[in-house]
Amino acid sequence: MKWWYRKSLYRFRQNELKKLYLSCVRYMLTNSICDQAYYFEFGCYSCNTLGMAWKHFRHHFNFDFVVFDSFEGLPEISQIDESGIFAEHGMRMSLEEFQAKVKALGIKREKLRAVKGFYSDSLTQELQAELLGKSIAVAMIDCDLYESTVPVLEFIRPFLRQGSIIIFDDWSCYFGSFEKGEKRAFVEFTTKYPEFTFQTLAQTSEAIAFYVSDLNVQG
Ligand SMILES: C[S@@+](CC[C@H](N)C(=O)[O-])C[C@H]1O[C@@H](n2cnc3c(N)ncnc32)[C@H](O)[C@@H]1O
Repeated sequence: MKWWYRKSLYRFRQNELKKLYLSCVRYMLTNSICDQAYYFEFGCYSCNTLGMAWKHFRHHFNFDFVVFDSFEGLPEISQIDESGIFAEHGMRMSLEEFQAKVKALGIKREKLRAVKGFYSDSLTQELQAELLGKSIAVAMIDCDLYESTVPVLEFIRPFLRQGSIIIFDDWSCYFGSFEKGEKRAFVEFTTKYPEFTFQTLAQTSEAIAFYVSDLNVQG
Protein backbone atom coordinates (compact mmCIF):
# COMPACT_ATOMS: atom_id res chain seq x y z
CA MET A 1 0.00 0.00 0.00
CA LYS A 2 2.76 2.42 0.95
CA TRP A 3 4.65 1.44 -2.19
CA TRP A 4 1.56 1.93 -4.34
CA TYR A 5 0.90 5.29 -2.76
CA ARG A 6 4.47 6.46 -3.29
CA LYS A 7 4.44 5.27 -6.89
CA SER A 8 1.13 6.92 -7.72
CA LEU A 9 2.21 10.20 -6.12
CA TYR A 10 5.48 10.08 -8.05
CA ARG A 11 3.57 9.53 -11.28
CA PHE A 12 1.20 12.36 -10.42
CA ARG A 13 4.13 14.73 -9.78
CA GLN A 14 5.80 13.76 -13.05
CA ASN A 15 2.56 14.33 -14.93
CA GLU A 16 2.18 17.73 -13.33
CA LEU A 17 5.71 18.70 -14.36
CA LYS A 18 5.05 17.39 -17.85
CA LYS A 19 2.02 19.65 -18.01
CA LEU A 20 4.20 22.65 -17.13
CA TYR A 21 6.86 21.84 -19.69
CA LEU A 22 4.36 21.10 -22.45
CA SER A 23 2.55 24.36 -21.62
CA CYS A 24 5.88 26.11 -22.24
CA VAL A 25 6.21 24.32 -25.59
CA ARG A 26 2.70 25.40 -26.61
CA TYR A 27 3.32 29.01 -25.57
CA MET A 28 6.65 29.21 -27.37
CA LEU A 29 5.35 27.62 -30.55
CA THR A 30 2.26 29.85 -30.55
CA ASN A 31 4.51 32.88 -30.28
CA SER A 32 7.17 31.59 -32.69
CA ILE A 33 9.89 31.53 -30.05
CA CYS A 34 12.09 29.04 -31.85
CA ASP A 35 15.31 30.98 -32.10
CA GLN A 36 18.56 30.58 -30.20
CA ALA A 37 17.92 31.20 -26.52
CA TYR A 38 18.64 29.75 -23.10
CA TYR A 39 17.09 27.18 -20.84
CA PHE A 40 18.48 28.13 -17.42
CA GLU A 41 17.96 25.89 -14.42
CA PHE A 42 18.79 26.94 -10.86
CA GLY A 43 18.92 23.82 -8.68
CA CYS A 44 19.44 20.73 -10.80
CA TYR A 45 20.18 18.03 -8.18
CA SER A 46 18.83 14.72 -9.57
CA CYS A 47 18.24 15.97 -13.16
CA ASN A 48 14.51 15.36 -12.97
CA THR A 49 13.41 18.74 -14.31
CA LEU A 50 16.46 19.03 -16.56
CA GLY A 51 15.61 15.64 -18.08
CA MET A 52 12.06 16.84 -18.63
CA ALA A 53 13.26 20.05 -20.31
CA TRP A 54 15.61 18.12 -22.57
CA LYS A 55 12.92 15.60 -23.48
CA HIS A 56 10.26 18.18 -24.37
CA PHE A 57 12.28 21.08 -25.79
CA ARG A 58 14.95 19.51 -27.93
CA HIS A 59 12.63 18.55 -30.81
CA HIS A 60 11.35 22.08 -31.35
CA PHE A 61 14.01 24.47 -30.14
CA ASN A 62 17.74 24.86 -30.35
CA PHE A 63 18.31 26.10 -26.80
CA ASP A 64 21.55 26.22 -24.89
CA PHE A 65 21.08 24.60 -21.51
CA VAL A 66 22.86 26.20 -18.55
CA VAL A 67 22.43 24.79 -15.06
CA PHE A 68 23.56 26.40 -11.83
CA ASP A 69 24.06 24.44 -8.64
CA SER A 70 26.46 24.25 -5.70
CA PHE A 71 26.70 20.48 -6.30
CA GLU A 72 27.10 20.47 -2.53
CA GLY A 73 23.42 20.69 -1.69
CA LEU A 74 21.64 23.54 0.03
CA PRO A 75 23.59 26.36 1.65
CA GLU A 76 23.39 27.14 5.36
CA ILE A 77 19.72 27.76 6.12
CA SER A 78 19.12 31.28 7.37
CA GLN A 79 16.31 32.17 9.76
CA ILE A 80 13.96 33.36 7.04
CA ASP A 81 14.14 29.97 5.28
CA GLU A 82 13.74 27.72 8.31
CA SER A 83 10.94 25.22 7.82
CA GLY A 84 11.90 21.82 9.15
CA ILE A 85 12.09 20.50 5.57
CA PHE A 86 15.32 22.08 4.33
CA ALA A 87 18.73 21.39 5.85
CA GLU A 88 22.25 22.51 4.99
CA HIS A 89 23.74 20.15 2.37
CA GLY A 90 20.33 18.60 1.81
CA MET A 91 19.70 17.46 -1.77
CA ARG A 92 23.35 17.07 -2.58
CA MET A 93 24.56 15.54 -5.82
CA SER A 94 28.21 15.90 -6.79
CA LEU A 95 29.16 17.27 -10.19
CA GLU A 96 30.49 13.82 -11.15
CA GLU A 97 27.19 12.10 -10.24
CA PHE A 98 25.33 14.81 -12.10
CA GLN A 99 27.43 14.34 -15.22
CA ALA A 100 26.85 10.58 -15.14
CA LYS A 101 23.11 11.23 -14.95
CA VAL A 102 23.30 13.69 -17.83
CA LYS A 103 25.02 11.03 -19.92
CA ALA A 104 22.42 8.42 -18.99
CA LEU A 105 19.65 10.80 -20.05
CA GLY A 106 21.29 11.30 -23.43
CA ILE A 107 21.68 15.06 -22.98
CA LYS A 108 24.25 16.32 -25.46
CA ARG A 109 27.24 17.59 -23.52
CA GLU A 110 27.94 20.34 -26.08
CA LYS A 111 24.46 21.78 -25.43
CA LEU A 112 24.88 21.85 -21.63
CA ARG A 113 27.01 23.99 -19.36
CA ALA A 114 27.08 23.39 -15.61
CA VAL A 115 28.05 26.30 -13.37
CA LYS A 116 29.23 25.01 -10.01
CA GLY A 117 29.09 27.06 -6.82
CA PHE A 118 26.83 28.71 -4.30
CA TYR A 119 24.94 31.53 -5.97
CA SER A 120 26.43 34.15 -3.65
CA ASP A 121 29.80 33.33 -5.32
CA SER A 122 28.95 31.91 -8.73
CA LEU A 123 26.39 34.39 -10.12
CA THR A 124 28.91 37.09 -10.94
CA GLN A 125 28.68 40.08 -13.26
CA GLU A 126 31.50 38.52 -15.29
CA LEU A 127 29.44 35.37 -15.90
CA GLN A 128 26.40 37.49 -16.70
CA ALA A 129 28.39 39.49 -19.26
CA GLU A 130 29.80 36.29 -20.75
CA LEU A 131 26.37 34.73 -21.22
CA LEU A 132 24.57 37.86 -22.44
CA GLY A 133 23.78 38.03 -26.13
CA LYS A 134 21.03 35.46 -25.93
CA SER A 135 17.90 35.77 -23.84
CA ILE A 136 16.03 33.35 -21.67
CA ALA A 137 13.36 31.20 -23.26
CA VAL A 138 12.72 29.32 -20.01
CA ALA A 139 14.25 29.65 -16.53
CA MET A 140 13.42 26.91 -14.05
CA ILE A 141 13.98 28.10 -10.49
CA ASP A 142 14.10 25.11 -8.18
CA CYS A 143 16.36 26.24 -5.36
CA ASP A 144 13.73 26.16 -2.61
CA LEU A 145 14.95 29.07 -0.50
CA TYR A 146 14.25 32.81 -0.41
CA GLU A 147 17.95 33.54 0.15
CA SER A 148 18.85 31.52 -2.94
CA THR A 149 16.10 32.92 -5.17
CA VAL A 150 16.94 36.62 -4.62
CA PRO A 151 20.37 36.48 -6.34
CA VAL A 152 18.97 34.19 -9.04
CA LEU A 153 16.29 36.73 -10.04
CA GLU A 154 18.83 39.58 -10.05
CA PHE A 155 21.12 37.46 -12.23
CA ILE A 156 18.49 36.60 -14.83
CA ARG A 157 16.96 40.09 -15.09
CA PRO A 158 18.99 41.25 -18.14
CA PHE A 159 18.19 37.99 -19.93
CA LEU A 160 14.43 38.52 -19.71
CA ARG A 161 12.54 39.71 -22.77
CA GLN A 162 8.92 39.64 -23.86
CA GLY A 163 7.94 35.94 -23.94
CA SER A 164 10.53 34.70 -21.44
CA ILE A 165 9.11 32.09 -19.08
CA ILE A 166 10.03 31.65 -15.43
CA ILE A 167 8.99 28.48 -13.61
CA PHE A 168 9.06 28.37 -9.82
CA ASP A 169 9.06 24.76 -8.67
CA ASP A 170 8.46 25.49 -4.99
CA TRP A 171 5.61 27.98 -5.26
CA SER A 172 3.46 26.13 -2.72
CA CYS A 173 6.21 25.60 -0.13
CA TYR A 174 5.80 27.29 3.24
CA PHE A 175 2.02 26.95 2.84
CA GLY A 176 2.32 29.21 -0.20
CA SER A 177 2.92 32.22 2.09
CA PHE A 178 3.86 35.52 0.42
CA GLU A 179 6.33 36.05 3.26
CA LYS A 180 8.53 33.06 2.47
CA GLY A 181 10.58 31.21 -0.11
CA GLU A 182 10.59 31.69 -3.86
CA LYS A 183 7.24 33.50 -3.71
CA ARG A 184 8.57 36.23 -1.42
CA ALA A 185 11.60 36.73 -3.65
CA PHE A 186 9.41 37.02 -6.75
CA VAL A 187 7.01 39.49 -5.15
CA GLU A 188 9.98 41.68 -4.14
CA PHE A 189 11.43 41.38 -7.66
CA THR A 190 8.21 42.46 -9.39
CA THR A 191 7.85 45.39 -6.98
CA LYS A 192 11.44 46.50 -7.59
CA TYR A 193 11.20 46.11 -11.37
CA PRO A 194 7.68 47.17 -12.42
CA GLU A 195 8.77 47.31 -16.06
CA PHE A 196 8.07 43.57 -16.30
CA THR A 197 4.47 42.41 -16.54
CA PHE A 198 4.13 38.72 -15.73
CA GLN A 199 1.10 36.57 -16.41
CA THR A 200 0.45 33.00 -15.36
CA LEU A 201 0.98 30.35 -18.01
CA ALA A 202 0.25 27.20 -16.00
CA GLN A 203 0.10 26.05 -12.41
CA THR A 204 0.24 22.72 -10.61
CA SER A 205 -0.18 21.72 -6.97
CA GLU A 206 3.46 22.72 -6.34
CA ALA A 207 4.78 24.85 -9.14
CA ILE A 208 3.86 27.79 -11.34
CA ALA A 209 5.03 29.17 -14.69
CA PHE A 210 4.86 32.86 -15.59
CA TYR A 211 5.67 34.57 -18.89
CA VAL A 212 6.70 38.16 -19.51
CA SER A 213 3.72 39.51 -21.43
CA ASP A 214 4.95 43.11 -21.55
CA LEU A 215 8.26 44.82 -21.00
CA ASN A 216 8.07 48.60 -20.71
CA VAL A 217 11.54 50.00 -20.94
CA GLN A 218 11.57 53.78 -20.24
CA GLY A 219 13.22 55.49 -23.09
C1 LIG B 1 15.09 20.67 -5.08
S1 LIG B 1 16.75 20.49 -5.56
C2 LIG B 1 16.64 20.63 -7.31
C3 LIG B 1 15.90 19.47 -7.94
C4 LIG B 1 16.06 19.37 -9.45
N1 LIG B 1 15.47 20.50 -10.14
C5 LIG B 1 15.44 18.08 -9.97
O1 LIG B 1 14.35 18.14 -10.55
O2 LIG B 1 16.05 17.04 -9.79
C6 LIG B 1 17.43 22.04 -5.08
C7 LIG B 1 18.86 22.27 -5.52
O3 LIG B 1 19.16 23.65 -5.38
C8 LIG B 1 20.53 23.80 -5.06
N2 LIG B 1 20.68 25.10 -4.38
C9 LIG B 1 19.81 25.70 -3.52
N3 LIG B 1 20.29 26.86 -3.09
C10 LIG B 1 21.48 27.05 -3.71
C11 LIG B 1 22.46 28.09 -3.68
N4 LIG B 1 22.31 29.18 -2.92
N5 LIG B 1 23.55 27.96 -4.46
C12 LIG B 1 23.71 26.86 -5.24
N6 LIG B 1 22.83 25.83 -5.31
C13 LIG B 1 21.73 25.93 -4.55
C14 LIG B 1 20.85 22.60 -4.19
O4 LIG B 1 22.19 22.21 -4.34
C15 LIG B 1 19.90 21.52 -4.71
O5 LIG B 1 20.56 20.65 -5.56
